[in-house]
Amino acid sequence: VFNLGQYLCTAQNSFGSDRMVITLAVQTEAPKIQAPKSTEIAVYFGKSVTLDCLASGKPPAQISWILPDRTFVRDYKCIASNAAGADTITYHLHVAALPPSISEGAMDTLGESAKLSCHATGQPTPKIMWISPRNYVISLSSDKFQVMDDGMLLVKKVILADEGKYACVARNSAGDDVKNIKLEAELQEPFINGMKGRSTTKVLAVSYQTALLDCRVEGKPEPRVWWVTPYGHSLPTPYLGGRFQVHRNGSLELRGVRKTDEGGYMCLAKNNLGEASLVVELDVASIAEKPIFAVPNIEILPIKQDGGELILECPARGKPNPEFAWVLPNGTMLKPGVRLQRFTHHLAKGTLHISHPVASDKGVYRCLAKNVAGQAEKRYALESGRKPVIRGSTGMFFHLKLIKQKSP
Ligand SMILES: *[C@@H]1O[C@H](CO)[C@@H](O)[C@H](O)[C@H]1NC(C)=O
Ligand SMILES: *[C@@H]1O[C@H](CO)[C@@H](O)[C@H](O)[C@H]1NC(C)=O
Repeated sequence: VFNLGQYLCTAQNSFGSDRMVITLAVQTEAPKIQAPKSTEIAVYFGKSVTLDCLASGKPPAQISWILPDRTFVRDYKCIASNAAGADTITYHLHVAALPPSISEGAMDTLGESAKLSCHATGQPTPKIMWISPRNYVISLSSDKFQVMDDGMLLVKKVILADEGKYACVARNSAGDDVKNIKLEAELQEPFINGMKGRSTTKVLAVSYQTALLDCRVEGKPEPRVWWVTPYGHSLPTPYLGGRFQVHRNGSLELRGVRKTDEGGYMCLAKNNLGEASLVVELDVASIAEKPIFAVPNIEILPIKQDGGELILECPARGKPNPEFAWVLPNGTMLKPGVRLQRFTHHLAKGTLHISHPVASDKGVYRCLAKNVAGQAEKRYALESGRKPVIRGSTGMFFHLKLIKQKSP
């Protein structure tokens, strides 16, 4: 380390001396920070950034940084200093949101269910939304779907109809990203009308009308479906014959049915996992008769609140046998086999059972009997029970009084 200033040099011998003044100047240069392209820096949340602070200076500048406090303004200040001075530069850091990016999407089976996962990154954390193959937004929870907190979509009890592309949409304030995930149902042996193996059913048709024998087939790979008539003829799907037609959906249509069409029609469905069959016993009623009721069409019944059961019958006859529906006083319709609280429409007999009747059950109950030929209706008016009141009692009393007056 030199001291600045003038130094005196002296040379001396026996003849004399000489002197020279030397001025020592230490050369210095104040720091200068190289100007960056910009001091306004935008960076995505979660990413890294480098702030440069290159300074010249003699002696070399010492670099120090002043970091931001915990305020929203993120100013980073660089100070370059040496003995000759100091220079500073301030960077302003703008932290921007990071648009979502879906890294991966996958499908996994979980017993009868399937889970579709979708991992998205972004800042702020993106929200996940799912779009069904039929293009509607899937609600967070339903019988079929559940969207988990982490964005995973659970498809419950997967059936073939659930197959397709599900779109995972990740969205935040900076944008969105979409990824399609394919849902494939597992291989499945054929089912006919929801049943596997063999099943039978009955259909009653009316002469000269059209009968439709349904055969809804499910299975994967898609089963081959065909019908065999009572005469042993095989009809493929689809099939277009004279009076017989097999629709693409498997239904066999018989136009202008006649008595000779009666018999067992078998629908068969087969794929490499198995086979299912349905025998439809077709009966043909010669002439259709509209349902009728033998007894009066309206009956008035008291409600006995004895804790028992009130049974309303619907004795309609018709050809073919009518189908029944009950309509409660408030307009609610009960189909056969349906039970609503204390009200049951019995499947076999068409009767309506009201268990533990109460006074508020009063009102008009209607039974509708319907077949291909028409419809008839029977009504029951239920009235709440009252204490007996003898009608005309005043008249009788008056009469007695008259008799009394006469007697003395
Ligand atoms: C099958 O298709 C036919 C003709 O389009 C239709 O009349 C019938 O109702 C369908 N059956 C079922 C079960 O969808
Ligand atoms: C009609 O009445 C039944 C039986 O009391 C009840 O369960 C049902 O909720 C009612 N329906 C309406 C629409 O009020």
